Amino acid sequence: MEVYSEKQQIVAALDALKAKNQTLGLVPTMGALHQGHLQLVKKALENNDKVVVSIFVNPTQFNNQEDLIKYPRTLKKDVALLETVSKSNILVYAPTVDDIYEGNTISQDFDFDGLEFEMEGKFRHGHFDGVGTIVKRFFEIIKPNNAYFGEKDFQQLTIIKKLVEKHNIPVNIVGCKIHRESNGLAMSSRNTRLKPEYKKAAPFIYKTLKTAKTLFGTKSASKVSEWVEKQFNNHDLLELEYFIIADTKTLKPMKRKSNKKSYRAFIAVYADDIRLIDNIALN
Ligand code: PAJ
Repeated sequence: MEVYSEKQQIVAALDALKAKNQTLGLVPTMGALHQGHLQLVKKALENNDKVVVSIFVNPTQFNNQEDLIKYPRTLKKDVALLETVSKSNILVYAPTVDDIYEGNTISQDFDFDGLEFEMEGKFRHGHFDGVGTIVKRFFEIIKPNNAYFGEKDFQQLTIIKKLVEKHNIPVNIVGCKIHRESNGLAMSSRNTRLKPEYKKAAPFIYKTLKTAKTLFGTKSASKVSEWVEKQFNNHDLLELEYFIIADTKTLKPMKRKSNKKSYRAFIAVYADDIRLIDNIALN
């Protein structure tokens, strides 16, 4: 598998492919790859001749320095895992901070029409400016036809669609379903850092989301939220940061239920010092 750490090199390789009219998919990641990431890569391989998987722990999207330092970096293992999917049609781009940021690690100041101030935006200030900055940079360097993002980070996916629309970036954004462990826990690179007792407890998050979905059939959003808060108040290990039922377009909390709108429930939970997020479609 070809692994590039310098943008000039990957751009040259991609220019050669584009000259042959090959279509290109991009799967941006921060590495520590798992089956959830691989679903995105497999979908990208189905729809494109070649796929670039970027592996880069982006410093500008971390508002917690400890989280940035502790973020798992496992490039060798990641490449080996990607090779199980395809040896010849994947190019890995794993740049250094300097290669991608060229000495300027200040985020661009984006206006995502308020999407960035909801949910994650309230708890991770500047996070989506960092995500927007790096993803826009990847789009400019790689120039993919299609780019793949998981619904696991539904707010991020919505914001990337807004980024592309507002900046007229010629790329098709494809959303991919959440991939879960057999016990329901949404796969995440952070799961590897969970201590055994927290790993055992964490499937409670999705279990609660599923019951919340059932309750949403007959109860108001505030009643469902109250019920969820109670479940976590009674839980010894997991600490709820937020539970919100929101409109999937605006990401604003639902006020009055409308049959014409679609809603999702979004949750962030602390398991020890590890922050886990998940979400579920409600209608
Ligand atoms: P990362 O957390 O590595 O995730 C990379 C992509 O994989 C994201 O689009 C994410 O939504 C998707 N993903 C992660 N776990 C998933 C799961 N269980 N099921 C489905 N998709 C899943 O998200 C980022 O990196 C970064 O913010 C990035 C976009 C790379 C910018 O730095």
